[in-house]
Amino acid sequence: MTKTLEQKITDKSAVIGIIGLGYVGLPLVRAFVAAGFRTMGFDVDATKIEKLLAGRSYIEHIASEWIAECVGQKKFEPTADMRRLAEADVLLICVPTPLSDSRDPDLCYVEATTRFVAETLRPGQLVVLESTTYPGTTRDVMLPILAAGGLAVGRDFFLAYSPEREDPGNPDFSAEGIPKVVGGIDPASLRLAEMIYKQAVVRVIPVSSCEVAEACKILENTYRSVNIAMVNEMKILFDRLGIDVWEVIDAAKTKPFGYQAFYPGPGLGGHCIPIDPFYLSWVARKYGVPTRFIELAGEINTSMPHYVIRRVIDALNEHGKPLQGSKICVLGVAYKKDVDDDRESPSFLLMQLLGEAGAVVSYHDPHIPALKKLRHYDFSQLASQELTAEFLAGLDCVLVATDHSTVDYDFVVQHAPLVVDTRNATREVAEGREKIRKA
Ligand SMILES: NC(=O)c1ccc[n+]([C@@H]2O[C@H](COP(=O)([O-])OP(=O)(O)OC[C@H]3O[C@@H](n4cnc5c(N)ncnc54)[C@H](O)[C@@H]3O)[C@@H](O)[C@H]2O)c1
Repeated sequence: MTKTLEQKITDKSAVIGIIGLGYVGLPLVRAFVAAGFRTMGFDVDATKIEKLLAGRSYIEHIASEWIAECVGQKKFEPTADMRRLAEADVLLICVPTPLSDSRDPDLCYVEATTRFVAETLRPGQLVVLESTTYPGTTRDVMLPILAAGGLAVGRDFFLAYSPEREDPGNPDFSAEGIPKVVGGIDPASLRLAEMIYKQAVVRVIPVSSCEVAEACKILENTYRSVNIAMVNEMKILFDRLGIDVWEVIDAAKTKPFGYQAFYPGPGLGGHCIPIDPFYLSWVARKYGVPTRFIELAGEINTSMPHYVIRRVIDALNEHGKPLQGSKICVLGVAYKKDVDDDRESPSFLLMQLLGEAGAVVSYHDPHIPALKKLRHYDFSQLASQELTAEFLAGLDCVLVATDHSTVDYDFVVQHAPLVVDTRNATREVAEGREKIRKA
């Protein structure tokens, strides 16, 4: 007798298929392998599949040894062959959800993946979207594609949404330790999605619909974007008043309730916070509802690199130097500390603005040895410079854009003539503080 999906989840014979093996998909593979499920990984990027099959990781915080072991023992089977999607009982979709050039949601990856799934969809499969998106995507975009072949949702196949909350590089939280919100298209889909995640993560929070789960993720990220914008604005004001914003935040966060610390910086980066709120404002426009917080936060956060450049100009000016011709090393091109992810990093705009003003730009990033050509920027001729005493002394300014913890900031301040710090990375530096300008 063939087992139902429920039975397969319970006895762990269900095969898990994870589609999109990036910063979200790979940690999810790890969570399901650890929970004892045979896990397949699907990606259209054949070079990623080749690396995985050869036991090599392409994400710094996922160890190659772990991949080699799981692939070797057939606990994890990476493949670029989408016809094999039918072999999985549960399909978890973790593909990109970027913005188009006109800053509208670009669901091309979600739609392409859903079409792949629809081609081989069979009774008994559960499909869950994990990519961040606007409320309504699972029901309005995915369901019609999946149901077009004649299978009925809630009876033949199942569909749910569960947002990923991965925080790459955060040693305190990995996929299995982060509670997961789940919404189903119907009660049967919700029940099965809840069952499967309960096997792999610490806690599952069921909600009444896919739309609530979709909105939950966007609320979380909009909350971050708005609060970061607020503290960026405070930074500019406090600086005028001669007050150090980081000291103010350290004091404020001693309040045991009602305050959560957010920190200023050179602008927003990463695949989530600069993008996700605009998924929501796009929907809001369709309904004629204004999203003023989102727009204002976006405006403030995207203006921060320009503010930082102004601070660099002022700092050089104090040394009697123009920006034009000055040698400036941008320290950190990853969008946040201790990760190797440079997507949407404000460092690129900083480098571009500096270059346009005639500065001689270099960079250092312990996690990113060389730069790739990107959609909007091409610094592929640059490689990370070693921070030697000679190199630092030959610069006019170091601009700290990312506060990586392995950098020796005492050494940087000791040897560089001027350090503009957007992250308070030099907070512990005792000697040479007269060379530091916060920005
Ligand atoms: N990176 C994060 O910290 C984070 C955190 C929470 C949520 N998210 C969300 O998760 C989603 C994925 O983000 P990510 O950072 O893992 O992206 P990523 O670019 O690191 O990985 C996505 C992968 O999907 C693959 N892919 C694209 N189209 C495909 C297709 N049709 N079939 C199979 N594979 C395909 C790509 O080749 C890539 O390897 C996004 O919606 C993002 O907003 C990301």
